[in-house]
Amino acid sequence: MMGPRFLWLLWACACCWSTGFCGKVVVWPTDASHWINIKVLLEKLVLQGHEVTVLVASSNMLINYQDTSSPFTFEVLQVPFTQKDLDDTMDDFLNFWMNEVSNASLWEFMWRMKKDQEDFTNLLKQTCHTFVTDSQLIAKLQKANFDVLIADPLSICGELVAEILAIPFVYSFRFSDGNVVERLCGGLPSPPSYVPASTSGLTDRMSFMERLKNFLFYFYVDLFFLKFWRDEWDGYYSNVLGRPTTLCETMGKAEIWLIRTYWDFEFPRPFLPNFEFVGGLHCQPAKPLPKEMEEFVQSSGKHGIVVFSLGSMVYNVTDEKSNIIARALSHLPQKVLWRYKGKKPETLGSNTRIYDWIPQNDLLGHPLTKAFITHGGTNGIYEAIYHGIPMVGIPMFADQHDNVAHMRAKGAAVVLDFSTLTTQDLVDALNTVINNSTYKENALRLSKIHHDQPLKPLDRAVFWVEFVMRHKGAKHLRPAAHNLTWYQYYCLDVLAFLFTCAATAVFLLVKCCSFCCRRRGKGIAKRKKE
Ligand SMILES: *[C@@H]1O[C@H](CO)[C@@H](O)[C@H](O)[C@H]1NC(C)=O
Ligand SMILES: *[C@@H]1O[C@H](CO)[C@@H](O)[C@H](O)[C@H]1NC(C)=O
Ligand SMILES: *[C@@H]1O[C@H](CO)[C@@H](O)[C@H](O)[C@H]1NC(C)=O
Ligand SMILES: *[C@@H]1O[C@H](CO)[C@@H](O)[C@H](O)[C@H]1NC(C)=O
Repeated sequence: MMGPRFLWLLWACACCWSTGFCGKVVVWPTDASHWINIKVLLEKLVLQGHEVTVLVASSNMLINYQDTSSPFTFEVLQVPFTQKDLDDTMDDFLNFWMNEVSNASLWEFMWRMKKDQEDFTNLLKQTCHTFVTDSQLIAKLQKANFDVLIADPLSICGELVAEILAIPFVYSFRFSDGNVVERLCGGLPSPPSYVPASTSGLTDRMSFMERLKNFLFYFYVDLFFLKFWRDEWDGYYSNVLGRPTTLCETMGKAEIWLIRTYWDFEFPRPFLPNFEFVGGLHCQPAKPLPKEMEEFVQSSGKHGIVVFSLGSMVYNVTDEKSNIIARALSHLPQKVLWRYKGKKPETLGSNTRIYDWIPQNDLLGHPLTKAFITHGGTNGIYEAIYHGIPMVGIPMFADQHDNVAHMRAKGAAVVLDFSTLTTQDLVDALNTVINNSTYKENALRLSKIHHDQPLKPLDRAVFWVEFVMRHKGAKHLRPAAHNLTWYQYYCLDVLAFLFTCAATAVFLLVKCCSFCCRRRGKGIAKRKKE
């Protein structure tokens, strides 16, 4: 089984000699779709001649550390939670957001947000602690002299690992609730008047009420997270590093933030020089389909096909929902390829085929593809943008509502509500995006914007990781905002000073006037007496 890995190494060595620079990269990854995305960047780094070591929890979802053909070295953290603990937490999470959220009261909803936060924090903390207490592994990694660490702020602890190893780190990032991490810790300017909070589902054109909602949401997440971080992480980080610090301060040390979106997707907004927008770095031209699949696709004739996937985490839905969906799909003149692992629905039409797995990017790049039904994960949306395919979005959780709201605002998608989904809704939505050519035109417009860049997103991401390796950081891009307190940042101290000056001046003026008036008054009175 040495074969494939050996070839990767051989290739890496060859590249290394030709460019004269090869570094060592250590990675603190986030699981699931984040891993699918970052893996593409890591593979490219290996091709450039760098060594990549991935720190991975022994229980995880998609990071297969036993794969001997992988081009990466894995350091496995023997975490105390089992695979079943992890799967149960995920199932519980998915079950609520897919099936129960529609009937939940506001109170249940809030309680759930808190519970999810606690559940995932619990797993993250155990993983983090496994690393922090493994002095042997730390010594080994310190000795290996890594040049850079790549982390994802969603898996808290990557920045702590970088501090322990005393190396610069780069973030690969999509979003945080209400942009709180990038705003408060990264210093990214986000005027609440036109930068919608992520997870709010708002766009950059907000009515007064929406701006009010956005403003209050920013305020609420700031308070929530500052308290949550303080209670959960600040003390831990200070203990481990042996000096008073906070999670946010440590996160703010990221040299470069590689954001997994781009201006084809994002609304125009202010950003900083150490933020690089590399959305769609995983997209590639379509490769030929497997033979059986190609035959099925070709059998659709002039009507073409519809591709349907709810992402890497959701493999099945309830019987009721699967039948609603299957019935809708059976009404289409198109052929449908549906990625689904659950029980085969009774209403499945002869035009629909179910697959455990589909080559999504290759299907979306197929000339016969007319539409994509998606849960709205960033990876899938970017594949659709790359190939110019209009979408029907059925968002469920995390950034999905946001992502599809962006696509709807740009005229490339119709959005449906999963919890109230009916057969007719889905049929109408699909007919709209397929028959009404504006959706296709808008999708193609986004695709053209995406392809017309001076450097491909993957190459830009690699460039910045290598830049940080070559220069031991990117301190020249770091805004001084990080050294200011919040009242200095908003110039509140300056305003307070100016206000005091103005108030003093007004006060003196009033005093003077009244003094003069009184004297004149007295003078007149005196003269009158005379
Ligand atoms: C939601 O509530 C309605 C009415 O109270 C009920 O009929 C329905 O079964 C519930 N749905 C779920 C998924 O619990
Ligand atoms: C999905 O499938 C698993 C096992 O196949 C089952 O336990 C689970 O209840 C299913 N989920 C839904 C929402 O039907
Ligand atoms: C869309 O076009 C298909 C044929 O391609 C047709 O069957 C369907 O009725 C049309 N839908 C609408 C809403 O016009
Ligand atoms: C197509 O969709 C656009 C955007 O929703 C809408 O403005 C337009 O009226 C639609 N055209 C037709 C023919 O339905």
